[in-house]
Amino acid sequence: MTAAPNRTDKFSFGLWTVGYGGADPFGGPTRPALDVVHVVEQLASLGAYGLSFHDDDLFAFGSGDAERERQVQRLREALEQTGLVVPMVTTNLFSAPVFKDGGFTSNDRAVRRFALRKVLRQIDLAAQLGAQTFVMWGGREGAEYDHAKDIRAAIARYREAVNMLAQYVVDRGYELRFAIEPKPNEPRGDILLPTVGHALAFIQTLERPELFGLNPEFGHEQMAGLNFVAAIQQALEAGKLFHIDLNGQRGVKYDQDLVFGHGDLYQSFALVDLLEFGGPGGARAYDGPRHFDYKPSRTEDERGVWESARANMRNYLLLRERAQAFRADPEVLEAMAAARVAELSVPTLAQGEGYQQLLADRSAWEEFDAGAYFGARGYGFVRLQQLATEHLLGAR
Ligand code: GCO
Ligand code: MN
Ligand code: MN
Repeated sequence: MTAAPNRTDKFSFGLWTVGYGGADPFGGPTRPALDVVHVVEQLASLGAYGLSFHDDDLFAFGSGDAERERQVQRLREALEQTGLVVPMVTTNLFSAPVFKDGGFTSNDRAVRRFALRKVLRQIDLAAQLGAQTFVMWGGREGAEYDHAKDIRAAIARYREAVNMLAQYVVDRGYELRFAIEPKPNEPRGDILLPTVGHALAFIQTLERPELFGLNPEFGHEQMAGLNFVAAIQQALEAGKLFHIDLNGQRGVKYDQDLVFGHGDLYQSFALVDLLEFGGPGGARAYDGPRHFDYKPSRTEDERGVWESARANMRNYLLLRERAQAFRADPEVLEAMAAARVAELSVPTLAQGEGYQQLLADRSAWEEFDAGAYFGARGYGFVRLQQLATEHLLGAR
């Protein structure tokens, strides 16, 4: 029996996810809006531990301080009553007309200054609510036309913006770190920092790179035809997996934001295996929130919304169970050994060895039999993948 979700699983949801009313470019909402208090109560009763939100999800764009405070207070009370926490907060710099050409990188300097003020205001709230991570998804930071946007200047303005935000967090003594969320396109034709790799390179150019990491989203790498699990491994290797957005996507097309597991099931399995058991000695490789950033399909009514929320968590737990069995299967261990998976962790050069020793090592070149690899010495990767498939299908 798969365990029911509980707080220790660290499942969290965006307020905008279950709160999505179904509007898309071809039709308006198909469901009424959900109140934040109701969302918090429902998520808590389903076994989630956290809620994340954009400013505009909680109080409408343009709200004055009084209205903002009223909504924050309602959220605070709901959190107190349910025990739900807010591990991550983010800013909406993409919905309001003022951001039609972006926030940090709008061609209009006054818009850029307004965007920074909006983010500073939301950072204060994030700190007050005890969030550890501040996500930055720049959906409108980009362009459709090459002559319309000086990308080099845009990257410089992006850097200027986030350097200032980091300075603010340090000066205020906030325990917040920033997580950049890449996406290749949508809503802009091309978005800046389109993939995990682009964002990692950008972070290295910042004044305080240690305060910046990533919030990679499953479907976003797949929209670019990339392997999400490989991207997560690179983020982990760089010590930059600060947060993660889990969902489902089926191939290179518009951003589907399906339930986790309803897209690429193989990758979902490999991902859960990596997060849960891919650390040193089979420990967790990532300990932060398992955050679902999905959209309940617009075909569903409210009952379908909660069923889809439950499905995200259940699929994660089922895959965790499958991954555990996979890792414990002696035949899998044997296949992994035959595939020499662990051998890649052995450094290529011996301790203290340099090119001189390598050049002197006859076994590395003069006596090495490269021809022996023709028609022999297969790695058995297919066998390993078939074992993974059988575990995924519950056949073992
Ligand atoms: C998307 C993005 C967004 C962001 C979120 C945080 O699906 O394009 O995931 O949902 O994650 O808005 O800013
Ligand atoms: Mn998405
Ligand atoms: Mn996301």
